[in-house]
Amino acid sequence: MAAIIVVGTQWGDEGKGKIVDIYAGEADIIARFQGGNNAGHTLVVKGEQTILHLIPSGILHGGKTCILGNGMVINPKVLIQELDELDERRLLPADTKLFISNNAHIIMPYHMRVDLAREALRGGAKIGTTGRGIGPAYEDKISRAGIRLCDLLDDQVFRTKLGKNVEEKNFYLTEFCKEEPVDGEAIYREYTAYADRLRQYAADTSVIIDEGVKAGKHILFEGAQGCHLDIDHGTFPFVTSSNTVAGSACCGSGIGPTRIDGVIGICKAYTTRVGSGPFVTELADEIGETIQNVGHEFGATTGRKRRCGWLDMVLVRHSVRVSGITGIALTKLDVLTGINPLKICVGYTTDHEAFTDLVPSNPMTFEQCRPVYEELEGWADDIRGIRNFNDLPGAVKRYVARLEELAGVPVILTSTGPDRDETITAYSPFTNS
Ligand code: GDP
Ligand code: IMO
Ligand code: MG
Repeated sequence: MAAIIVVGTQWGDEGKGKIVDIYAGEADIIARFQGGNNAGHTLVVKGEQTILHLIPSGILHGGKTCILGNGMVINPKVLIQELDELDERRLLPADTKLFISNNAHIIMPYHMRVDLAREALRGGAKIGTTGRGIGPAYEDKISRAGIRLCDLLDDQVFRTKLGKNVEEKNFYLTEFCKEEPVDGEAIYREYTAYADRLRQYAADTSVIIDEGVKAGKHILFEGAQGCHLDIDHGTFPFVTSSNTVAGSACCGSGIGPTRIDGVIGICKAYTTRVGSGPFVTELADEIGETIQNVGHEFGATTGRKRRCGWLDMVLVRHSVRVSGITGIALTKLDVLTGINPLKICVGYTTDHEAFTDLVPSNPMTFEQCRPVYEELEGWADDIRGIRNFNDLPGAVKRYVARLEELAGVPVILTSTGPDRDETITAYSPFTNS
């Protein structure tokens, strides 16, 4: 048995969906533990693409247990749509078991309204959220006003909690945001229908995971977003509203840290970011455009263009430290084919420091950091579909080796295309062999 956590090491969209889908082949239980439908995880199997926002990326394999953990914020409408779509496409195996934690918080229509209204009020200083109500839903969790799945499933509790929340949110929406109020009765009717549909999946998911641990199963935890979008360890305030680092898998699913065997950090061969905030290695030139086009760097959730730049190892090293990463899965190497020379950022200079390899806490200071680059030779040969690491061109191997050296941990998987098959695996994180 092994319990492995997969997390993003950058600003999200590193290819977590693809890698979780691969590792899920070996796992028995796959669990999401934070975030909501701000996530967009893309899986490609034999050319067919599936984008998941809430359901764990293990769903395409039959016979797995998929869990939406207590640390998530769940929009029931989106979840039901996702289930129906998978079912219509005959991608929901009959022997898959899906469970949702009773303690997971529910995203309500007023969360989305507040999210959008706040972004509008921020104007030029906006965070660039996905507008899915993630921040306001987590606020209600922390203020203890939020509605959990178990509350939604109890009609009386739901009615009372909803009434109180609607009253408060409508005051905020109309008086502060100068927006229209929400209709509490309409929400009640809409959400009681969702409750009827989701009741069958509600469970104490911590117990299910614990039973898996005791039975010697392989358990895979699927992070959403990335380390630098973490509410504590990211580029605050340009972050999401949950903890995205590996430690969050324990709180967000109800497993103890002593049960965890490894943490795999997903790292894109370059850097991207959706939304606002500092980005030291951002490329506002032709190379940035090439990466954006070749890598199809458009948000899987909002369709927004992703900002692109060179690989920033200051960010990746920070992630290795705060998540205790034991191995890296390196994705999208194929996108760099034909770009020569390549650059890797190994540190920053600022007006006050000749060199630093730490991410400053102050966003203004971070904004002013300038990258210190190392140049590496590029490669011209198409590497898509190569299955053996030794068959890769020498320049690719040197790029990977330098990344390993700077990260201080080994690259255990190399991805050279979006498809499940376009992957070179050094060893399995579950068995280390
Ligand atoms: P996630 O949020 O971390 O799961 O990543 P996304 O799915 O949002 O974005 C990653 C995108 O890159 C998706 O379109 C994937 O299909 C694609 N992708 C993943 N790995 C590779 C790769 O090695 N090469 C290429 N070209 N595309 C990849
Ligand atoms: P996956 O799991 C990339 C970004 C948003 C915004 C900030 C806050 O697919 O990697 P939020 O709606 O969470 O309050 O937005 O976080 N963001 C992501 N960027 N990938 C994601 O998820 C993201 N989830 C949120 O663009 O900058
Ligand atoms: Mg994504």
